[in-house]
Amino acid sequence: MQTTGHGPATTQLASSLVQDAEAAPLPRHRLPDSGTGGEVAHDLITNELFLDGSARLNLATFVTTWMPPHGAALMAETADKNMIDKDEYPQTAEMERRCVNILGDLWHAPGGADATGTSTTGSSEAAMLGGMALKWRWRERRRAAGLSTDQPNLVMGVNVQVCWDKFCRYWDVEPRLVPMEGDRFHLDAEQAAAHCDENTIGVVAILGSTFDGSYEPVAEIADALDALAAGGGPDVPMHVDAASGGFVAPFVQPELVWDFQLPRVQSINASGHKYGLVYPGVGWALWRDAAALPDDLVFKVNYLGGSMPTFALNFSRPGSEVVAQYFMFLSLGRDGFTAVQQSSSAVARHIASDVAAMGPYRAITDGSELPVLAFALKPEVTGYTVFDVSDRLRERGWLVPAYTFPENRTDLSVLRVVVRAGMTRDMADLFLADLRKQTEVLEQCGAGPRPAGEGQAFRH
Ligand SMILES: Cc1ncc(COP(=O)(O)O)c(C=O)c1O
Repeated sequence: MQTTGHGPATTQLASSLVQDAEAAPLPRHRLPDSGTGGEVAHDLITNELFLDGSARLNLATFVTTWMPPHGAALMAETADKNMIDKDEYPQTAEMERRCVNILGDLWHAPGGADATGTSTTGSSEAAMLGGMALKWRWRERRRAAGLSTDQPNLVMGVNVQVCWDKFCRYWDVEPRLVPMEGDRFHLDAEQAAAHCDENTIGVVAILGSTFDGSYEPVAEIADALDALAAGGGPDVPMHVDAASGGFVAPFVQPELVWDFQLPRVQSINASGHKYGLVYPGVGWALWRDAAALPDDLVFKVNYLGGSMPTFALNFSRPGSEVVAQYFMFLSLGRDGFTAVQQSSSAVARHIASDVAAMGPYRAITDGSELPVLAFALKPEVTGYTVFDVSDRLRERGWLVPAYTFPENRTDLSVLRVVVRAGMTRDMADLFLADLRKQTEVLEQCGAGPRPAGEGQAFRH
């Protein structure tokens, strides 16, 4: 029998093109009475997510936007593992240990193959743990000496990432922020020592400032704190926030001394999901030895009938993140990590030199520390701003943040490009071509007025 235009075959075709659920608005406020089924829900959600920017064109984030397919597959295969169930998933727990040891070795922890540390959800959680250990140890020392523990402070540059403001607020510590001054955009040794007193729980030095990718002079800061203690002043420990630099410096600047080689450095955090090359969210916190991590911060959970120490803010969290970190270590090895990070570094320096040659821009950083470059417009450029450049790049899909520096340098607004694995030389050249074209348009036509207050602060 032949079917006509309105027969069963057409109906079947139509129903596979237009599902009832697709014709209705998606639930926004309450659980729908009946579900769409998995296939339709998958389509609907995938469609909606097209409105997100393309992760690969996101030059704003430090976080991994590309992983090798085997690594991504392994993450999907292990999505059911809970990191905290160490007795049920002992091999995942074992991989966490191996990662901590590998990082301990990379960062020269004195304990050799038995490093003290943990995985976290990211550098923010790792920073909370590092900060708590500093506070607890300071309090122990003060109590033992019969001194007050009412007014702890933490010394750091104003350029710290917001996680350190959070740490101070959540744990009742005064954030002692050293302001920027002239062309000094991060903490230096002199200012670090000058801001310390008997209530300072520690100094945070950043290996890879979020604002511009520059490294703070960790070794110089350590020397200045050594001199302060030797001169009868307070003996202040250091934490290094190596959120990005912890996975870059060992491969791009192997001679740089910034880690546990400096006895003053008590703890280090890094983001596995940044230059550790894993999708979000995994981070790492390591202490120079067991003595640097106060016992009463560590909880014991049952592990294979034994007892497993844990120090974390969360309980359940994905085990797949840790599996993926171990995968990256295993699959790339030292050679592979060196090749990947050096390639990002070369691409960043290439972009920086071409941007500088365009004319209207001046470099703040050039990609020679983190593979990150920040650039401003020269003072003589008055017809448009970095915010206009950022807007115009977005029209082509490139997400490049423009933001103003903090107090003391609020006159300075920059654009920042973060180069990560997956940003090839070819993509860099496409980006440069678009930046050149949009800059020429702005040079010729200027920019229209901007809505007041738009595009000012930027904190990641
Ligand atoms: C220096 C620094 N510290 C901490 C963080 C917070 O890291 P996470 O996103 O892993 O929590 C960032 C994020 O960009 C950072 O750049």
